Amino acid sequence: MIDLTSKAALVTGGGRGIGREIALRLAQAGCSVAVSDIDIATAQTTAQELEQLGVKALAVKANVADAVEVEGMFKEVLGAFGTLDILVNNAGITRDGLLVRMKEEDWDLVLQVNLKSAFLCCKEVARSMMKARSGKIINIASVVGLMGNFGQANYSASKAGLIGLTKTVARELAGRSICVNAVAPGFIKTAMTDKLSDTDKEKLSSNIPMQKLGSAADVANAVLFLASPLADYITGQVLTVDGGLVM
Ligand SMILES: NC(=O)c1ccc[n+]([C@@H]2O[C@H](COP(=O)([O-])OP(=O)(O)OC[C@H]3O[C@@H](n4cnc5c(N)ncnc54)[C@H](O)[C@@H]3O)[C@@H](O)[C@H]2O)c1
Repeated sequence: MIDLTSKAALVTGGGRGIGREIALRLAQAGCSVAVSDIDIATAQTTAQELEQLGVKALAVKANVADAVEVEGMFKEVLGAFGTLDILVNNAGITRDGLLVRMKEEDWDLVLQVNLKSAFLCCKEVARSMMKARSGKIINIASVVGLMGNFGQANYSASKAGLIGLTKTVARELAGRSICVNAVAPGFIKTAMTDKLSDTDKEKLSSNIPMQKLGSAADVANAVLFLASPLADYITGQVLTVDGGLVM
């Protein structure tokens, strides 16, 4: 049994999808959880679900690509919980298009929301974790950051960058017993993949050794493990949760 009572976590983009599932998993282990999202209504709904599990929960509105809002988010969370043991950088977006048609604004937006956000959040949380000489940072990357994907030059570059960031921050913080890892989901059933046609989904599944898309719960279970004392000697790693797509 993983017991995270007395621990506090922040999950960005926790209003729905994979982030919501991660927040629920952490709360089921007894962790206090702050859910931040650009869409505050969804964050509030998730926070209410967490409270029903008997843990402390907080909903925070923040655009994680904005340095001022990120600073405010950490002030609010640290003010409410007093400490922050676990940070999950989950918020992410896609703006797909083939390279030759991709607009510069779509490149910039995806890099800001998926990569700059994690830099800002890691920087903010590093101070308090270094002081505490412990902490877990988990960045939600993607298998496309490892293998590329048609129509996702911006998204795959942001996720590959996130993996590089993970390894550097892991090296810089390892001496303070802070573990920094990435989880790289494959194709997971969420609002993000609901946009795909049935034919595309079937095509995708046929390329996966396990012949099916994953669930948000599959990703959340990996995050729970990395957030727990069971992973105290694991840092700088990329854990793929993808039914065998990348091996
Ligand atoms: N669904 C998949 O197949 C899949 C695969 C690999 C990786 N991922 C990654 O997992 C993470 C979650 O994906 P999901 O499928 O749950 O997506 P989703 O679109 O269902 O949820 C993303 C959440 O992030 C929030 N968000 C978006 N922009 C934000 C911003 N600027 N500031 C704060 N919050 C913001 C959204 O409001 C939403 O609640 C993302 O980083 C995504 O890249 C997803």
